[in-house]
Amino acid sequence: MISPVLSAASRPYIAASVPVLREHGVTITRCFYQRLFAAHPELKNIFNMPNQQSGTQQQALASAIFAYAANIDNPEALAPVISRIVQKHVSLGIREEHYPIVGKHLLGAIAEILGAAAIPELLAAWAEAYGLLAAALIAEERKQYQAHGVEPGEYRSVTVVRKQKESDSVTSFYLQATDGSTLPSFQPGQYISVAVNIEQLALRQLRQYSLSDAPDNGHWRISVKREPGNAATDGAAAGAHPAGLVSNLLHDQYQEGDVLWVSPPCGDFVLQQEDRRPLVLISAGVGVTPMMSMLHSSLQQSPQRPVNFLYATLNGRHHPLKGELNNLRRRHGQVRSHIAYEKPADDDHLQKDYQQQGYLQLAQLPDVLLPHDGSYFLCGPAPFMQIQRDALLARGVAEHQIQQEVFGPSLLQHLQ
Ligand code: HEM
Repeated sequence: MISPVLSAASRPYIAASVPVLREHGVTITRCFYQRLFAAHPELKNIFNMPNQQSGTQQQALASAIFAYAANIDNPEALAPVISRIVQKHVSLGIREEHYPIVGKHLLGAIAEILGAAAIPELLAAWAEAYGLLAAALIAEERKQYQAHGVEPGEYRSVTVVRKQKESDSVTSFYLQATDGSTLPSFQPGQYISVAVNIEQLALRQLRQYSLSDAPDNGHWRISVKREPGNAATDGAAAGAHPAGLVSNLLHDQYQEGDVLWVSPPCGDFVLQQEDRRPLVLISAGVGVTPMMSMLHSSLQQSPQRPVNFLYATLNGRHHPLKGELNNLRRRHGQVRSHIAYEKPADDDHLQKDYQQQGYLQLAQLPDVLLPHDGSYFLCGPAPFMQIQRDALLARGVAEHQIQQEVFGPSLLQHLQ
């Protein structure tokens, strides 16, 4: 990665203004998106527009840019988050020419909201910081597009060859290349962006779904959760969660034989096959999907490696890929599983279907399920991951043994 160095002249302006910009983060971000979409309505096809409207995304992009710019001289803190952003951007098809557009409207928003406080030296310092960050991202993204052999934003067409209901809320789509070619391999844990036209918004929208089966078995599989959504009590408040436009459309309207457009497999939350430590996969809800890919792949590639599969969900009706997990467990003696049902249904049986009632409580589990020398992967809603991560640390598992799939603004926790 390019190690950006901010000029001495700009440094004090960035340091002094970061707290102010963060304080006004939501206002600046809102202003930024308004300017951006007014000037470039075509970018609505790239951003998650329902999240924009509900306000849940208001903190994301501009706040991230402030945080990264503030850490620009701290490559150690930046490297892992840059890698994650690059992967996301590549799945979204972000192009080099988008960067000056975003930069212009971000600077415009800063100037508008800070008013007289936005002196030319301050704006110049932010232009420099943004430019350095953009250059680092552009360089990495270019390498990724080359490695995938695609132009930025180039999607491939795949056909739904099988549609399989996995639980009350999750359905799997098995995909093959429409032109009959073999789909590229991927690393277990990676995701693809799926592009879908939303007629009522007259927009194309992109969503990321983890690949839930092993690589190299003739198809890709995504397992998609229907998202009913919930209304915010006070308009754009945190907690508002719009219904899943794309996931619902996939469930309701995409059938076997239909064609989807998808990105190359992306993401750096991946299984390292050369790692021989016991593998511990801990997930909740639809976070099970990358874990199933890792489980299949580990059993194929490293048949001796122990795998512990810990999973939390509401009950048996919301337990996707349950039969598949049980089959693998029966066939492979090195797989142990531990399932927690928050509210078991009448036909769920303790011990047979689940081993813990209520939330997944790692503190109560034996060392054989949570070995000290394990390699841990966490995936699920942010609060779930925070709780499980703290519980692992409290048991003496080291930070470097834990990998987790972090979404959006929570990436900022890694930075000051
Ligand atoms: C220095 C510049 C930039 C930084 C620091 C940055 C940072 C980020 C971060 C932290 C995320 C969330 C990643 C995740 O969810 O894992 C993100 C997502 C995203 N970024 Fe960037 N970004 C930059 C430039 C751009 C540009 C130029 C575009 C193109 C228009 C763009 C479009 C997006 C989109 C569409 C998302 C997905 C979230 C959504 O749909 O709202 N970003 N970016």
